[in-house]
Amino acid sequence: MKFWKKQTHSEITERIRAALNQNQSFYKEPIFGMPCSYLDPLIFPESSPILADAPYLQTLINNPNHIGCHTLATSETIFSGTQEIEKYLIELCSVDIFKANEQEIDGYVASGGTESNIQALWVYRNYFLKEFNATNHQISVCCSFDTHYSIVKGCDLLSISLHQIPVMENRQIRIDVLIEKLAQLKKNGVQNIIYILNMMTTMFGSVDESEAIIEVLKQSGLNFKIHVDGAYGGFFYPFSNPENSLNFENENINSITVDAHKMVQAPYGTGIFLIRKGFMKYTHTSSAKYVKGEDYTLVGSRSGANAIAVWMILMKHGPYGWIEKVNILLHRAKWLENELNKRSVCCFRENYSNIITIKAEHLNENIIAKYYLVPDSHDSPAWYKIVIMDHVNSDLLHEFLLDLGI
Ligand SMILES: Cc1ncc(COP(=O)(O)O)c(C=O)c1O
Repeated sequence: MKFWKKQTHSEITERIRAALNQNQSFYKEPIFGMPCSYLDPLIFPESSPILADAPYLQTLINNPNHIGCHTLATSETIFSGTQEIEKYLIELCSVDIFKANEQEIDGYVASGGTESNIQALWVYRNYFLKEFNATNHQISVCCSFDTHYSIVKGCDLLSISLHQIPVMENRQIRIDVLIEKLAQLKKNGVQNIIYILNMMTTMFGSVDESEAIIEVLKQSGLNFKIHVDGAYGGFFYPFSNPENSLNFENENINSITVDAHKMVQAPYGTGIFLIRKGFMKYTHTSSAKYVKGEDYTLVGSRSGANAIAVWMILMKHGPYGWIEKVNILLHRAKWLENELNKRSVCCFRENYSNIITIKAEHLNENIIAKYYLVPDSHDSPAWYKIVIMDHVNSDLLHEFLLDLGI
């Protein structure tokens, strides 16, 4: 690990204090030109005792705006202290989790997985428009039927077509259908494919078998770019299955979405977008003239406190603490799967995943409501999922099995 090193609470606090000191402060300095300030002091007084030993809350009330993309361009200089921590976080995720070389990846803390996925589609659509003189009709997005709906939203916003490939019982796509689909798209004049690979899908926790898909894309003769949606799995799968190839060591993988507000238990607003250097320029909004360094991101203004929260959580656990945490959740998931199998309850769990998805026929209304099990579709539920998070502990899982009554 080059960047991810466990730190004590006082080391973390000291680092953030230094970052806030490096920022200019609305409390102490004359900052006239920005349409923002510290958080409203009637509700969030600077003197509140709860702030004393709480660097995240201190950052929150100081309200640094991390608009722009700091790994790439200069940004608002008055918030350079906390921007440095965001840059560090991007490098930590890229190098220590997703196996990039140092300084090879750009990225930013986005509002969530949805924004990160749309950012990827936006970059690649513009890349194909600019570098291959394509029209929107010559660009298509392909992915599995189990892919998150943010991709549907993105294709709608960007006016590019989407083709979702049916999956088999093991939740892997039908490769024969993908081959057929690509041939048909080619015949219809499509020359450029944006492929979304899943690192743990929302409902099944399934991980796409990337080698076969990449081979088909190569054989198709079409131009392609691959984005990995690790919004759910990005902070889990690289640790539960360290040999996986959905990372930047794989030259075919160009960008990755990962969400800290899921497995990392960070506050909402902590999606992370990572992309190889040389690509953020395709979403450069040069008309963002009043923003220092202009803008490359979808979102505009965003709170610097979000990056601080993620950085703090990761540094407090340290990499080995994190591996341990993932393994505890994985152990619970395997245990539950085993218990369900003993009871002949039909369920799906991808190897190395902490999501267990149960066929609806085994569950009754009471148990669904008591444990707030989430269906694949509220209109016609066929499956319900259990996500083994920190609070879904072994005692609760035992209680669930008793309630199941089988
Ligand atoms: C695989 C996957 N991608 C994207 C998203 C969207 O994330 P968000 O809700 O943070 O926008 C989710 C959310 O559950 C997800 O599971």
